[in-house]
Parts: sequence; structure tokens; C-alpha cells
Amino acid sequence: PPNIIECAVTDGAEEDCHLPRVERYAGLGQKGATLWMTGCSGAGKTTIATALEEKLVKGYGKHVYRLDGDNIRTGLNRDLGFSESDRKESVRRVGEMSTLFSDAGVITLVGLISPYRKDRDEVRKRHEEQGIPFYEIFLDVPVEELMSRDPKGLYAKVQSGELKHFTCIDDPYEEPLRPEITLATRDLKIEESVDVLFKRLREDGILE
Ligand code: PPS
Ligand code: MG
Repeated sequence: PPNIIECAVTDGAEEDCHLPRVERYAGLGQKGATLWMTGCSGAGKTTIATALEEKLVKGYGKHVYRLDGDNIRTGLNRDLGFSESDRKESVRRVGEMSTLFSDAGVITLVGLISPYRKDRDEVRKRHEEQGIPFYEIFLDVPVEELMSRDPKGLYAKVQSGELKHFTCIDDPYEEPLRPEITLATRDLKIEESVDVLFKRLREDGILE
């Protein structure tokens, strides 16, 4: 028979009717967490998130989902551009979404430049308030390296003046002060970065 959740009869305590997160996680056989990758364009946010996703899904049968700035800008964030206030709103929306996915038991991999410290701190706070594990992961790469990688040809467009307000060049990027994890992806192979994240999730009991 389905598991009926009994509502405690205490005034106004809505939570009493909800399936507690621990029970949801136990039923699913996995725990949720948000891995928030921040860094300049070309730093490796999408690449590392995709590689970690593949390892966790194919190797360990985990339910993982990626929320990537570029993708989300085609739908949920299609009304937003790259002004300071639009970037702030983008971080807020993806932050709220990541709390929901993680609360649902999904290992949520976010790849968003998220250039402003205050906005990222707000997302951290929203996770902390709800007791959801949150990892700020700083992809730390020198600008010269980003310019030489230039996988989308965007830095070339910045150089030629075709593209303006580009993060880390002529638009701000505020580096994290106390990220849980820093990945210097100039000096690490993709698998090495993935391994750092994987080991951390295991140490912290997110992966059993
Ligand atoms: S932000 O700052 O968090 O709102 O950015 P995000 O949603 O992650 O989107 C970043 C991707 O948009 C492309 N792009 C730009 N990035 C930075 N500055 C400007 N002006 C800009 N214009 C377009 C770029 O492809 C980014 O992708 P990534 O994956 O970071 O390289
Ligand atoms: Mg990307």
C-alpha cells in the first residue's frame, strides 16, 4: 500500500504534513547536493560538469542534472541579457532551482559564470537555510590561458571590439573568497578535476 504521511495536528506547522527530506532521500537511495561552478567563460564549467555527470550516471547510477547558463538562457532565462541586474536575476533563479533539484534528491551541477560574490553568497545562504549541501567551486584560470583556449571564439570578438561587457575582460568577475573547492584547470586534466569533486562527495557522505 502507498505510504500515507500522517499530518501532525499542531497549529500552523505546515511542515508536519511533509515527507521529511531524509525519508525522501532514503526512499530514493541517494542524497541531493548542489555543486556550483563559477568562473570566467572558457574556464571549464560545462566541461567538468559534463564529465562528472557522466561518471556519476554511468559509473554509479546516480541521478544527476546539469543547470548550465548557456542552456538556461534559451528557456527560463531567455528574457535576460548580460547587464549587472540581469546576471543577478539569473543567479537568483538558478540558485532557487538548484535548491529545489537538490531537495528532490538530485546531485545538481550548476555551471554559471555568476560573476558577483554577493549573488553567490545569497545562493549559499538559501542552501544553508534549508540544510542543503552547497559547494562553491571556483574554476581558477589565468586570463591569458582563457584567451588562448577561446573555444567559442568569444575572446577574439572581444579583442576586435565586436563584443563588449565580456566577463573577466571588460566586465567584472569577483573571485570567491572562501570557495569549498578551487580547481586550477590550467594545470589539471579534466579527469583530475572530476576526481577532486568525486572524492569530496564521497568524503562528505553524499555518495555512498
Ligand atoms: S552570468 O554572468 O552568470 O549571467 O553568465 P552565464 O549565464 O553563465 O552565461 C555565460 C555564457 O554566455 C556567453 N556570453 C557571455 N559571457 C560573459 N559575458 C558576456 N558579455 C557574454 N556574452 C555571451 C558565453 O558563451 C558564456 O558561456 P561560458 O560557458 O561561460 O563560456
Ligand atoms: Mg559553458
